[in-house]
Amino acid sequence: MTDPAPVDWEALRLRAVELMERAYAPYSQFRVGVAGLVDDGRVVGGCNVENAAYGVALCAECGMVSELHASGGGRLTAVFCVGSDGTALMPCGRCRQLLWENGGPECLLMTPEGVLPMTAVLPQAFGVDDLTHGGSRS
Ligand code: THU
Repeated sequence: MTDPAPVDWEALRLRAVELMERAYAPYSQFRVGVAGLVDDGRVVGGCNVENAAYGVALCAECGMVSELHASGGGRLTAVFCVGSDGTALMPCGRCRQLLWENGGPECLLMTPEGVLPMTAVLPQAFGVDDLTHGGSRS
């Protein structure tokens, strides 16, 4: 089996920046963009969308995962999330869970410390296997 093509991290970052610029964040003024590479080569992405009811803000990653499914599904293989300065931003805990569901342990994430696999950013993640093993990992 051949290795997958190397990830073009700069292309992902530029797409994430483009999307960050479209964020709707009038309450926090904290704009976020994210782009993800899918295992078939597609790139999906999103930006955060806030609401006057603060608690229902949608993180950028929610939009990306929605586009993933709406555009044909597949698995995320590499993700770059940025804040308004265009540098890597760590996804919140809830969004790490979304990435785990849709990319799994091998999915790569650009972090302020470089590229890390999801196993490093969400150790001992809860996932679909936990549903079938009744809470025991042994
Ligand atoms: N936000 C994201 O879009 N993704 C994250 O992973 C962290 C937080 C957004 C939500 C809210 O609109 C703003 O950043 C401030 O929390």
